[in-house]
Amino acid sequence: MTIRIDRNKEFAGKVVLVTGAGSGIGEATAKLLGQLGATVIVADINISNAEKVANAIAMHGHATAHQLDVADPVAIEKLIGQIEHDCGGLDGAVNNAGIPGHRKEVAEYGIDEWRRVVEVDLNAVFYAIRYEIPAMRRRGGGAIVNIGSIASSIGIPLTGPYDAAKHAVLGLTKTAALENATHNIRINCVGPGYIETPFIMSRGPEVLAGYRAKHPMNKLGSAENIAEVAAFLLSDRASFTTGSYYVADGGYTAQ
Ligand code: NAI
Repeated sequence: MTIRIDRNKEFAGKVVLVTGAGSGIGEATAKLLGQLGATVIVADINISNAEKVANAIAMHGHATAHQLDVADPVAIEKLIGQIEHDCGGLDGAVNNAGIPGHRKEVAEYGIDEWRRVVEVDLNAVFYAIRYEIPAMRRRGGGAIVNIGSIASSIGIPLTGPYDAAKHAVLGLTKTAALENATHNIRINCVGPGYIETPFIMSRGPEVLAGYRAKHPMNKLGSAENIAEVAAFLLSDRASFTTGSYYVADGGYTAQ
């Protein structure tokens, strides 16, 4: 059997929301989906970055910028209502926005700073899928990708709330996937290794060299590496894939 795909039109007619799309992995994913024909809803807490990304996509495709704090469930409900009103429905979502939190041991973590990381990195993924899934059911189907981390399956010292949240994102992905398996909605999780984005790049050359050395490929990943996996999981090419966890980590978790 030969499968022929015109990649440039793969997402033609599809409306896809990307959160945290103003920078890094979200930006690369939004731009790739735009190239592949999607109407991209570029959402970020940083509206000026979201506008830059949406404007870049709009040069050759379709995109709109929206200010969104993913930790605000009322705002996400409102945005999804607006997408349905303006675009006719929602076909895909990449729940990507995240924060690393301060680097310190669990025994030293402040209660409020722990809560903030869990709020943005876990609870916000629930808020998003809470409203994305009903919208996709109204549309007759869809696909969701939650951006987890290698920290969805392993512990990394000094990142306690982040690891806890990212493990839970994988659990949430699996349960939501099972609940929607017969509703034509696929839900998957991506586990990036360390990726060259502002998320980690301010940590200094020695820390970054240490990260590089932990990847068997002896390099960090690019935002585009993760965008490709997210786009695949959103696409019909992954039509039998749901509840899965795809690592893109240069071999980090194979060791
Ligand atoms: P980044 O810092 O380049 O981009 C994150 C984006 O999310 C920024 O545009 C930021 O404004 C936005 N954001 C932060 N809080 C927000 C909020 N409350 N509401 C809406 N937007 C918000 O980081 P990167 O690397 O692109 O991270 C994206 C995702 O990838 C995160 O979930 C992160 O945990 C995950 N990841 C990143 C890795 C890395 O090494 N860079 C490794 C594994 C996972």
